[in-house]
Amino acid sequence: MTTAVATSTGTAAVTPRSNGPSGPAVWVRGVRREFAGRQVLAGVDLDIAAGEFVALLGRSGSGKSTLLRILAGLDTDATGKAIVPERGAVVFQDPRLLPWARVLDNVVLGLRARDARAQATAALAEVGLAGKERAWPATLSGGEAQRAALARALVRSPGLLLLDEPFGALDALTRIRMHSLLRDLCRRHRPAVLLVTHDVDEAILLADRVAVLTDGRLSLDEPVRLGDVRTRANPEFAALRARLLAELGVADDEAEQVDTEQQDGSGRGDIERVEGR
Ligand SMILES: Nc1ncnc2c1ncn2[C@@H]1O[C@H](COP(=O)(O)OP(=O)(O)OP(=O)(O)O)[C@@H](O)[C@H]1O
Ligand SMILES: [Mg+2]
Repeated sequence: MTTAVATSTGTAAVTPRSNGPSGPAVWVRGVRREFAGRQVLAGVDLDIAAGEFVALLGRSGSGKSTLLRILAGLDTDATGKAIVPERGAVVFQDPRLLPWARVLDNVVLGLRARDARAQATAALAEVGLAGKERAWPATLSGGEAQRAALARALVRSPGLLLLDEPFGALDALTRIRMHSLLRDLCRRHRPAVLLVTHDVDEAILLADRVAVLTDGRLSLDEPVRLGDVRTRANPEFAALRARLLAELGVADDEAEQVDTEQQDGSGRGDIERVEGR
């Protein structure tokens, strides 16, 4: 994916080259963005290695989606420098399927390979949607529609997968299934991943690294070292969670409240057990 990020001297291309086999897949330096004189990104630096999964947390309005859109090439008014893989794909909270096209046609859209339909069929099977090829998007559940969106992203073999709160609109049980699916897909396809999420637990369960965006910069960027099995019962999990919540400015009692609400609402605190990556 070639992203045009403007520099202070004008529109500067982001070179479509890779950073070489030993360089990061994503290389971002000093990226800034302001809207109507208000600076939202104030010099973001970020590296993501090939195959690495980074989760990005931040308060609402902190600029997470702005950064993701810049890396996706959807916002060319930022300044700074970024090199991203040539092939990228984005999944948003809303699956954004074309309502007038059947599921398979949504996945195929824009694919130029000769065997595009076969590839799309395989991608749908991979996300558990075999048999839904001819379904209309309106007949899919929220989770199924989001799986179709994942299939549409993965069939492009992206070097960078950008996810903006992809599970935010799903119920808790569906979200758990989607976590497991996403983890498996990322293990198989090994894209660099940037997942924007509000959910601290989701970030810890899925990511190799978690970053926090505060006042326009990454105020924390920490590897997740939780071994092979990630459960909320792990004291390391709780410690990292507390650090991240503190960085997000959530007080201890508020954090407890979030915990209680999550467990009351869905039992997630008890049943989600995830193998580490
Ligand atoms: N096109 C735009 N024009 C004006 N302001 C914008 C635009 N896009 C984003 N902003 C502002 O930039 C700030 C960051 O927005 P952004 O959507 O990146 O936040 P976010 O961290 O993704 O928030 P959330 O967690 O609520 O999704 C917000 O104050 C928003 O109003
Ligand atoms: Mg956002």
